[in-house]
Amino acid sequence: MSNSSSTDRDGRIRVGIITVSDRAAAGEYEDHGGPALRAACEERGWLVEAEAVIPDDRARIRTTLLGFSSQGCGLILTTGGTGIAERDVTPEAIRQVMRLEIPGFGETMRARSLEITPNAILSRGLAAVVDRSLVIALPGKPSGAVECLGFVEAAIPHAVKLARGVPTSC
Ligand code: MTE
Repeated sequence: MSNSSSTDRDGRIRVGIITVSDRAAAGEYEDHGGPALRAACEERGWLVEAEAVIPDDRARIRTTLLGFSSQGCGLILTTGGTGIAERDVTPEAIRQVMRLEIPGFGETMRARSLEITPNAILSRGLAAVVDRSLVIALPGKPSGAVECLGFVEAAIPHAVKLARGVPTSC
């Protein structure tokens, strides 16, 4: 399989999933967000090629994003660390390495999630282009992460191609 393409030979999106959680990384509790996102990706016919559970640490988030991107993941999903607790630094870490942010993803995730829970306003979830990957930062609650993915999924295939620099018409 070529590492230069964001999709495999059958056109399936190659995905990396990063759970950002101090407690899950320390083994204090089981990671449920990563497996929930993996199942959601597989339901959509995408290929999950890389997974990591890391602490809420900016440097670890940055190096994991860049590693997954250079590995060929066209789409990188993070779950956790989008809120307002002291250790919630996922958006800041992404912004340190992104080329640009795509505000519509965060706007849509918050607007649609607010129909489900008023606490959705607390998530600073976003999407960005990092290196040549589309990165989407989802909330840490597994059901919330899967819900938010569903709210933006229609734009993902096109965004992955554009992030990769594939010539494509809108
Ligand atoms: N969005 C959806 N769709 N569903 C949810 O349950 N939880 C919210 C919010 N967004 C939630 C959601 C809550 S309670 C918080 S604190 C923020 O996401 C941030 O979560 P995080 O810090 O785990 O990323």
